[in-house]
Amino acid sequence: MSVNAFGARLAVFVALALVPALVAADVGILYEVWHTTAAQAMQQVAAMHGTQLTTERVIRSNGAQDLNDVYGPYNISSDIYNVEPALGFYCLYRARAGEPGLVPDCPNITQTATAHAKLLVDMGIDYVMVDVTNWPTNTTSTDISVIRPTEVLFEEWYKLRQQNISTPAIAVWPCSPAGSNTWQVLLDKLYNNASYASLVYQQNGKKVVAIPKNPNCYDEGVAAAIAANGGRNDVTTINLWALFGPADYEAGTWGFFSPCVSSTDGTSYTTSIVGEPACNQRPTLDPATGGITEISASGAYMVSQSALPFANPGHLRGLTVARLFERVLDLRPPHLFLSSFNEHIGGRQQPVSSSKIAFNMGLPNDSQRDVVWVDTYASEFSRDMEPTVEGGDTVYRVASACVALYKAGLNCTAAPTDLCCTRADKEVFANVWSLSHASGNVYDTVLTTNAAEVSALETDGWAENCSPISGPSVFCVDTSLTDGRNGPFILYNQQLPNTIPLYRCNEPQQTHHHISTDPNCDGDGAVESTLGFIAQQRGGETLRGLYRCKTPQGGYAHSLDLPCDTPDGPVLGYVR
Ligand SMILES: *[C@@H]1O[C@H](CO)[C@@H](O)[C@H](O)[C@H]1NC(C)=O
Ligand SMILES: *[C@@H]1O[C@H](CO)[C@@H](O)[C@H](O)[C@H]1NC(C)=O
Ligand SMILES: *[C@@H]1O[C@H](CO)[C@@H](O)[C@H](O)[C@H]1NC(C)=O
Ligand SMILES: *[C@@H]1O[C@H](CO)[C@@H](O)[C@H](O)[C@H]1NC(C)=O
Ligand SMILES: *[C@@H]1O[C@H](CO)[C@@H](O)[C@H](O)[C@H]1NC(C)=O
Ligand SMILES: *[C@@H]1O[C@H](CO)[C@@H](O)[C@H](O)[C@H]1NC(C)=O
Ligand SMILES: *[C@@H]1O[C@H](CO)[C@@H](O)[C@H](O)[C@H]1NC(C)=O
Repeated sequence: MSVNAFGARLAVFVALALVPALVAADVGILYEVWHTTAAQAMQQVAAMHGTQLTTERVIRSNGAQDLNDVYGPYNISSDIYNVEPALGFYCLYRARAGEPGLVPDCPNITQTATAHAKLLVDMGIDYVMVDVTNWPTNTTSTDISVIRPTEVLFEEWYKLRQQNISTPAIAVWPCSPAGSNTWQVLLDKLYNNASYASLVYQQNGKKVVAIPKNPNCYDEGVAAAIAANGGRNDVTTINLWALFGPADYEAGTWGFFSPCVSSTDGTSYTTSIVGEPACNQRPTLDPATGGITEISASGAYMVSQSALPFANPGHLRGLTVARLFERVLDLRPPHLFLSSFNEHIGGRQQPVSSSKIAFNMGLPNDSQRDVVWVDTYASEFSRDMEPTVEGGDTVYRVASACVALYKAGLNCTAAPTDLCCTRADKEVFANVWSLSHASGNVYDTVLTTNAAEVSALETDGWAENCSPISGPSVFCVDTSLTDGRNGPFILYNQQLPNTIPLYRCNEPQQTHHHISTDPNCDGDGAVESTLGFIAQQRGGETLRGLYRCKTPQGGYAHSLDLPCDTPDGPVLGYVR
C-alpha cells in the first residue's frame, strides 16, 4: 500500500532536515464541489425576489428569522448554507458537451474556478483533494453532486494552465467499498485522460487517489484495483481518515483534521484552545520506520457536533489554526493536509446530548433548533478557510501565512511578527468557570476567569458547573447533566468594538454574588471583579445569550441561550 512507499523517502527528509530550503514539502487542502443543488436553490430564492438567508444570518437576526424562512416560503428543500462565500453561492455543474444537462448549468463557472485557483495558489496549496466521501456509486445524484463538477474543475484548470496561469493539482477521495464504482468513473474520465497527466496530483511518479479508511468506504480489493488502474499500475492510494485515536495515525492513515490533545492526560481530544498550553495534534507515522509522514491543520475542528457548545473550538480569530501550526512547524513532516477550503453546507443530526443547551447554538427558539449541524456551523465553528461574506478572510490570511512558513522552513522563533505567529490579535478570549455553593438556605453561583481561584473555591466547598457536552478540557464535562444553562462559557478579555463589561458583584453581607453590566451592581453590593467583555449583538464569535436568573433560595445563577426559570432582567449580552 501507499503508506509503505513513504518509507524510502523519509530517510531523505531526515537527512535534509538541517537544510530547510531543500526539504520538499507539499500541501493539500480538502476541497468541495458539492454545492450544485444548494447553490441553485439560492438562485431560485433570488429569482423569486426572496432574501438569501444563511444560518449565520438567521442567528444574527436574533429570533426575527427562522431557519424555515430560508427555503420554506419558496417550497424548496435543500441544504442551508452556513455562510455565503465571498464569491457568492457558486457551483461548478454544467452539462457535458453534446448532452442535455441533469440540472441547469451553474453561472460564472470560469470566474469561480479562476478565483479559486488564485486563492489557493496564493495560499501555497499544491493540490486540492476533492471530497467524494459520500458518493460510492455512480448514480445521477453522484453525477450532479461530484462527478460532473470535478470534471468541470479539471476542464477549467486545464484551460488556465494552457494560458500559463498556475493552478493547484487535483486528487480525488472517493468512498470505495466493495461493489463501488465512482472511483472507476473518476479514473476513466480524469486520471486516464492524457491531457490531465500533469494536473493530477502525484507522489513518486504515481497519480494519487485517497480512500477514506473507514468501514463504510474501504475495501482491500477495491484499493488494489484502484492502484492497478486497469493494468496501468500508475496510481498510488493514500488512506485518509485518521480520527479516532492513535492507532489510525500509527497505521499510516493520514489525518484530514486532527483535534488538539489535552495536556491533562496527553491523550484525550480537547476543544480548549484558550487555557491549554499547546495543541499537540497527532501526526501520521510511517508504520515501517516510525517516522512522521503527514500532519493536518484546520480552520477549526469538531469532536462531536459543531453546533453544540464546546464541541468545536471555532476559529478564534485564527488562533485555532495558528496553534495547530505550532505543531506543524515543529514537526515539519513532508506532507501537510489542510481542512478545509469550502464545505459551507453539511450534514445534520439529532443532538448527541439530551441536556437543555444541546441545540443549534444561538437559535434557542428556532423550529429547526434540534437538527444540529455536525461538521460546520455558522460562520465561526467551521473548518473552512475560504473567505466568506459573514466571516471575512481572517482564517484564510492566517493559514496562508502559516503555510508560507512551513514551505520556507521557518518557525515562529524566526518570524515572531508573522501573522501566523502573532498572538495579541488572537488571544482576546477568556474562559469563564461557573461554580456553585449551597450553604444552609443560600445557593450562590460565582463566575471566575482565574483558574487558580477555581481551585481555591473548590477547596472551600464550591462545585464546578460542568459542560454537558464533551469537548473542553479546561472545564469539567459531565454528559449526564440534563440542564447545562448555568455552565461555563467564553467571553472577551478586553474591550473590543460592540462589547460591554461584565462585572462580578458581591452584596454587602457576602452571601450571594451576581453578574451585571451595571458598574453600580444594580444597587446590590459592589464590583468584585470585571470578568471580561460580552458582545452586544448575537452572531459571529458569540452566539449564545447570557441571562441572570434568580434561584428559589434567594441567590443568583445564570442561563446560557435559554430563558431562566426565574428571570432577572433581559439578556445581558452574548458569549460563546
Ligand atoms: C426566545 O423566546 C423567549 C421566550 O420564550 C424570549 O424571551 C427570547 O427573547 C427568545 N429568543 C430569541 C433569540 O428569539
Ligand atoms: C408553495 O406551496 C403552497 C402549498 O402547495 C402554495 O400555496 C404556495 O403558493 C407555494 N409557493 C410558491 C412560492 O410556490
Ligand atoms: C455572476 O457574476 C456576475 C458578475 O460578476 C454577478 O453579478 C452575479 O451575481 C454572479 N452570479 C452568481 C450566481 O454568483
Ligand atoms: C480530455 O481532456 C481534454 C481537456 O479538457 C478534453 O478536451 C478531452 O475531451 C478529454 N478527453 C476525453 C476522452 O474525455
Ligand atoms: C506559456 O509558456 C510557455 C513556456 O514559457 C510558452 O512557450 C507559451 O507560449 C506560453 N503560452 C501562453 C498562452 O502564454
Ligand atoms: C456511470 O454512469 C453513466 C451514466 O449512467 C454510465 O454511462 C457509465 O458507464 C457509468 N460508469 C461506470 C464505471 O459505472
Ligand atoms: C525554530 O527553529 C529553530 C531553528 O531550526 C530552532 O532552533 C528552534 O528551536 C525552533 N523553535 C521552535 C519554537 O520550534
